[in-house]
Amino acid sequence: MKSFSIVIPDQKDITQDQEFFILEQNGITQEIKIHDYDKIFSVPGLYEELLMNKLQCNSPRVMKNVVEFISKNYFIPITEMSVLEIGAGNGLIGEKLRQLDVPHLVGQDISQIACDAAMRDQPKIYDKYIVGDLSDSNGEVFSKLKDTSSINCLIAVGSLGFSDISTKGFSNALNIVEPGGLLAISIKEEFLLSDNQTGFGKFIDSLISENFLEKICEIRYVHRLATSGKPIFYIVLCCRKLR
Ligand SMILES: C[S@@+](CC[C@H](N)C(=O)[O-])C[C@H]1O[C@@H](n2cnc3c(N)ncnc32)[C@H](O)[C@@H]1O
Repeated sequence: MKSFSIVIPDQKDITQDQEFFILEQNGITQEIKIHDYDKIFSVPGLYEELLMNKLQCNSPRVMKNVVEFISKNYFIPITEMSVLEIGAGNGLIGEKLRQLDVPHLVGQDISQIACDAAMRDQPKIYDKYIVGDLSDSNGEVFSKLKDTSSINCLIAVGSLGFSDISTKGFSNALNIVEPGGLLAISIKEEFLLSDNQTGFGKFIDSLISENFLEKICEIRYVHRLATSGKPIFYIVLCCRKLR
């Protein structure tokens, strides 16, 4: 049984990163931002109740279907996939990938609390879960990744942009994917516009025009509902890394 209850007050004219909900637990009531992942991951079952049940998040299911599709159609059988999932949180995406029988899965997140939550909620999902900052290409994340088998698939869901993974961190992660490997990222649709301030649109456009990435497909879908009840659209962008 849940040890908490949540209420999502109606919020109009509020940006995605300012949305909040009210948590009631052990007689204490507090307001928490939906992007305050560490606070949310600290309460078992809260991320699932908030994102999956109340806000009807589709991303884990969509990413599972997309990975199955690109594997079948771009000649990397699921049984040969070695996946790095960046910004893995408490492991909801990893759980779906394992349902496909992905044999090798490494998770990464900047937050030790996210890692602890993944070990608590999905203890057998990741072969390895690395905590650290992707923007430091000489840092601990990359020295730990050197000990893993080569990566032929990079996944990111809801972890690019805002104050999460930057283009630099994403670029460093992309550099460790072997040539011919696949990439599937789910990102807020505005972030892919060429003039968006996150820089993702411009950066990915340049990788494609310089033949570093080949675009396979782009799928627009409802990531989740906003607190106002309106749909929030994300894009899953799939590419092959050419070199
Ligand atoms: C919206 S959650 C998504 C979690 C998971 N991908 C999912 O879909 O359930 C964003 C995650 O990105 C992580 N994150 C934020 N900044 C990061 C960074 N610089 N490097 C790696 N992970 C980061 C957060 O700690 C959080 O776990």
